[in-house]
Amino acid sequence: MTETNAAQAGTFSIGGDLEVNRLGFGAMRVTGNGIWGEPEDADAARKTLARLPELGVNLVDTAESYGPYVSERLIGEVLAPYDKGTIIATKGGLTRTGPGKWHHVGRPEFLRQGAMLSRVRLKVDVIDLWQLHRIDQQTPREAQFEAVAQLKHDGVIRHAGLSNVSVNDIKDAQKYFAVTTVQNHYNFANRESEDVLDYCEANGIGFIPWFPLAGGELVSGNEAARAIAEKHNASPSQIALAWLLKRSPVMLPIPGTGKVKHLEDNVAAAAISLNDADFATLDKVGKKG
Ligand SMILES: NC(=O)c1ccc[n+]([C@@H]2O[C@H](COP(=O)([O-])OP(=O)(O)OC[C@H]3O[C@@H](n4cnc5c(N)ncnc54)[C@H](OP(=O)(O)O)[C@@H]3O)[C@@H](O)[C@H]2O)c1
Repeated sequence: MTETNAAQAGTFSIGGDLEVNRLGFGAMRVTGNGIWGEPEDADAARKTLARLPELGVNLVDTAESYGPYVSERLIGEVLAPYDKGTIIATKGGLTRTGPGKWHHVGRPEFLRQGAMLSRVRLKVDVIDLWQLHRIDQQTPREAQFEAVAQLKHDGVIRHAGLSNVSVNDIKDAQKYFAVTTVQNHYNFANRESEDVLDYCEANGIGFIPWFPLAGGELVSGNEAARAIAEKHNASPSQIALAWLLKRSPVMLPIPGTGKVKHLEDNVAAAAISLNDADFATLDKVGKKG
């Protein structure tokens, strides 16, 4: 193991059979502005992806809508054939009409087309983890859940997850398929999904917090994070990630970046162990915020 390695965060088993190191990577940032088109610095984006296996990062989150298609295509080009144990988790159910523009489409045929084509771009026979990006309110939810169950049944995907959901949404979906992961907005300063996290922990569901660094806002941190960071000779963003890892054994943070240096800094957070007092300080500050 190199000095900086995601394995230092410990492991979690997705769906009981896919073991990953708990500190993962979000591949939304290897695209252009507004998560649209090619990345401004394609070389840096490719190098960032290529560095993942060397750092022990074996959970990579993406979506067909990132680019669209750009993130998945780059992952396939740079990382396939994948190291044994590398899990590429993708998502479907959103379509794009321009930079920063996202629309929900949960029609069964669209979900199925999305998964089939993600498989091609990612260069896999079976997608290890496919997540419904959002439940579309214009389409009956039962039809969306049935489409996901069908993808599993047909062997297009191995495990299924949800994103941007409530506890009741998860319970509804569980009538159709085993929900193995849930991906919601969460970081120490945004605790709206606390009940969802608790439900995931109680049910052995992996919880993937998106915006673990609040989209970059936690990079410079607040006063409390900066003080704790100083004690650990670390950065506030590393402390924000260490806080997440301590918060729950089902927590799988996926900080996003298109830069090798930032990736290395983020993975180094796996080695930081916060004491209970520092954890509680950030917990309190975050809840107040
Ligand atoms: N399910 C959903 O609806 C949903 C929504 C949003 C995101 N996501 C997923 O969650 C992942 C994480 O979210 P995110 O990427 O939006 O936000 P994030 O991880 O909270 O923050 C990423 C931002 O912080 C910067 N950054 C990252 N590490 C840094 C470091 N060490 N030093 C300085 N700056 C740093 C990045 O810029 P640089 O590129 O310059 O490093 C980027 O602008 C995404 O990649 C995506 O896979 C899912």
